[in-house]
Amino acid sequence: MCGIVGYVGPRQATSILVDGLRRMEYRGYDSAGIAVINGTGVKIRKAAGKLSALVDKLKTETPDGTIGVGHTRWATHGAPTTPNAHPHLDQTGRIAVIHNGIIENAGTIRKALQMRGHNFKSETDTEVLAHLIGEYDTDNLEEAVASALWDVEGAYGIAVICSEEPGTVVAARNGSPLLIGVGDGEYFVASDASAILEHTRSVVYLDDGEMAVLKRDGYRVRNLTETHVEKPVNQIEWDLATIERGGYDHFMLKEIFEQPESLHNTLRGHLLEDEGTARLRGLNLSDDELKRFDRIIITACGTSWHAALIGEYMIEEMARVPVEVEYASEFRYRNPVLDDRCLVIAISQSGETADTLAAVREAKRRGARAVGLVNVVGSTIAREVDGGLYLRAGAEIGVASTKAFNSQVGALAMVSLRLARLKNLSVLQGRDFIRALNRLPDQIKQILDRAPEIERLATKYHKAGNCLYLGRGVNFPVALEGALKLKEISYIHAEGYPAAEMKHGPIALIDENMPVVFIAPKDAVYSKIVSNVEEVKARKGRVIALVTEGDVEIAKLAEDTFTLPQTHDLLTPILASVPLQLFSYYVAVLRGCNVDQPRNLAKSVTVE
Ligand code: AGP
Ligand code: GLU
Repeated sequence: MCGIVGYVGPRQATSILVDGLRRMEYRGYDSAGIAVINGTGVKIRKAAGKLSALVDKLKTETPDGTIGVGHTRWATHGAPTTPNAHPHLDQTGRIAVIHNGIIENAGTIRKALQMRGHNFKSETDTEVLAHLIGEYDTDNLEEAVASALWDVEGAYGIAVICSEEPGTVVAARNGSPLLIGVGDGEYFVASDASAILEHTRSVVYLDDGEMAVLKRDGYRVRNLTETHVEKPVNQIEWDLATIERGGYDHFMLKEIFEQPESLHNTLRGHLLEDEGTARLRGLNLSDDELKRFDRIIITACGTSWHAALIGEYMIEEMARVPVEVEYASEFRYRNPVLDDRCLVIAISQSGETADTLAAVREAKRRGARAVGLVNVVGSTIAREVDGGLYLRAGAEIGVASTKAFNSQVGALAMVSLRLARLKNLSVLQGRDFIRALNRLPDQIKQILDRAPEIERLATKYHKAGNCLYLGRGVNFPVALEGALKLKEISYIHAEGYPAAEMKHGPIALIDENMPVVFIAPKDAVYSKIVSNVEEVKARKGRVIALVTEGDVEIAKLAEDTFTLPQTHDLLTPILASVPLQLFSYYVAVLRGCNVDQPRNLAKSVTVE
């Protein structure tokens, strides 16, 4: 997803902007550009495609100047072409704007401006905003931006500069993350802390409706009505090194192999073995409040939604509280029945997914208590929920989520345990569950040590045109997640289904060309899934089965198997997902795909 970086200070801006955009490449984008101001006006350089195309342009035309803005675009209005790349100028060419998000009423404003003689060079909503700011600009950029923002509807994170105010960057946020970097005599704006971390760890997170005015001698935060808003300065604790590849070929592989440590960090400090429960103070919910909830809704998108489905099985099985799992994009627009007896759990790695953020706001608007299971510290969802748990999985750079998924499942396991021990789970059962949780990091390590087995499977099947993933019970969501991983990074069409559901249609797809991946641990539904394996075999399907160590029955039927360590039935998804992540990774590499930045995808979808 798009990236914003801005700078004002004593140093040359261009290299700071380009390095900042480079730090955000992992988020996914389709074009890039910068605007720098020097004595001769606003200098724009932009290019469709990867950042390298912009860097090539800059080799021959590097604008000098000590104030500027840079952007990586993820197109929503207009194709990813150079004219549509940001920054965009107003009618006079004095004002440059970069923008993350969607101006929903851009069409109406464009028409009105055209009636007043404005000519546009792009198809974007952003250029409309630039022209609108230009119309309001008298001699104060800050007020011109504030006035223009009163007219727009939609989500934005913007940064604006003007050749007639060469010491000012104006930033504003509504629905798309933005922070201010406070340096030593220099100031930054960015949509992601990684863009400016090499310059400063001191950041101010903007909230929706807020603006920031950066000058050479300081910064001020305001909103659309008040010219000053007090905001805390936060310190970023993680290092750039954590977002470097660390010797791995791809961030995704690094993050798959980090899972013993990342899951350990998720669980660390929460599990109380003596009491057989989890301490989750961050939820900001007393035991009485937790017991009062008679319904739980878990809302998320994509991989996080798959984790939510696993959470449903865990909570209902252990705590006997009804759970509904909702796509956030659906939840936010339908008319859900909510009250203060309903707990809404939002799951998000980035904490910036627009649909999930909107779902949280809708839930709170209707009186429900909202908590978040979020990875990125200080993210919008983490700051807007009533409480929650940080996943502590570390920065996840690969667009395809891996370690965050297993940390989400681990966090849900702890929430299930906490709730269950307030109701009907005994301390002995709680202790067993905790011991199973504590064994998982080492068990994941055992699986990772056998990665070459998965690589061999990938070599065998990487030319497949389609793939089916089947699982039952708590492993049905693992089938969905395995299919998503394969399709989003290798572009092979893959589908996940409940294994028994295969008979109601998908079985028509089975032939000798169809690999069918079964998640088939020795659990309560094992005998049922054996039948499903036989049904696929009878139609010459090529069965790849994840089975529990020591399994012989399915191992006899399957063309290929990979064994998993034994664990609690409800925790098998954490172990089963690891070989599926590796399988997708190796297949994608063999197919020459861009594993860390798959086509069309973004790490955080901050637009609808
Ligand atoms: C996961 O591999 C995908 N990149 C995507 O589905 C992702 O899980 C989804 O966009 C939700 O993101 P979030 O967890 O940051 O909210
Ligand atoms: N809506 C703007 C455009 O299409 C910005 C998209 C983005 O968030 O990068 O140019």
